[in-house]
Amino acid sequence: MSALRIRKKRIQGGFGITYLGFDLKLDARIAVKEYYPIGLALRNPGSTMVTVSNAEQGESFKTGAEKFYNEAKMVAKFNGNPNIVSVHDFFYENDTVYFVMGYLQGQTLKSYMKKKTVTEGQAVNIFQQISNALLASHGMNILHRDISPDNIMLCDDGSIRLLDFGAARQVMAEQSQSLSVILKQGFAPLEQYQQKGKQGAWTDIYALGATIYNALTTDMLTDPIIHPSWDSCDIHDRSAGAKQQY
Ligand SMILES: Nc1ncnc2c1ncn2[C@@H]1O[C@H](COP(=O)(O)OP(=O)(O)O)[C@@H](O)[C@H]1O
Ligand SMILES: [Mg+2]
Repeated sequence: MSALRIRKKRIQGGFGITYLGFDLKLDARIAVKEYYPIGLALRNPGSTMVTVSNAEQGESFKTGAEKFYNEAKMVAKFNGNPNIVSVHDFFYENDTVYFVMGYLQGQTLKSYMKKKTVTEGQAVNIFQQISNALLASHGMNILHRDISPDNIMLCDDGSIRLLDFGAARQVMAEQSQSLSVILKQGFAPLEQYQQKGKQGAWTDIYALGATIYNALTTDMLTDPIIHPSWDSCDIHDRSAGAKQQY
């Protein structure tokens, strides 16, 4: 990372930390995301190295890191897509994985909604732009799994881009009891509450619908209805650890 200057600003999410910084070689602002899954990763004060908090979960950490790396590699193939954040680089360092993105000047839909009302025209535009992003990613068999207002950037140049693809999220889903890490209440469909739920393009489309509904009404959809014939125990158990993080 010698050619990158990282500023202090950090945003901690469920399985990564986003830093804002500057690429000295490209002479451009960047955003860098570090694989740092909450509850699994640990960093000793004064050190840059990332270690696993619990040796038993070493395999999950490693699998997540590989997924994170491979996904950065795949998202980089979308470079040039006007609706998806661009990825400049990805690499292993400090015993974890990083990917470097082009810096997007603007604000997330979530921040925008705190200040202004989204009009129907804006909502339809967002729907169309993010649908284009999903068509591209689903075409490469990549699910986003976390479509929500904080992962949609309304850029100052008028473009609308999708952030935060999450293959590593699936690994977390398999080993984590904390739903807040792997799904966003009010946006996630039923199948994300189920350990064996079948996820597909429809999972992202549901969340996009929920996002547009939220943008227009500021209300959130209620959690998916639990029907007796579905694996409700599973849903109930896993929901117990969930925190409303949105
Ligand atoms: N390329 C980028 N340019 C500018 N800001 C970004 C960029 N990527 C992420 N951010 C900011 O960082 C926040 C967190 O990034 P994100 O990839 O969504 O990670 P997570 O939700 O896992 O923390 C975003 O909501 C956005 O505010
Ligand atoms: Mg995010």
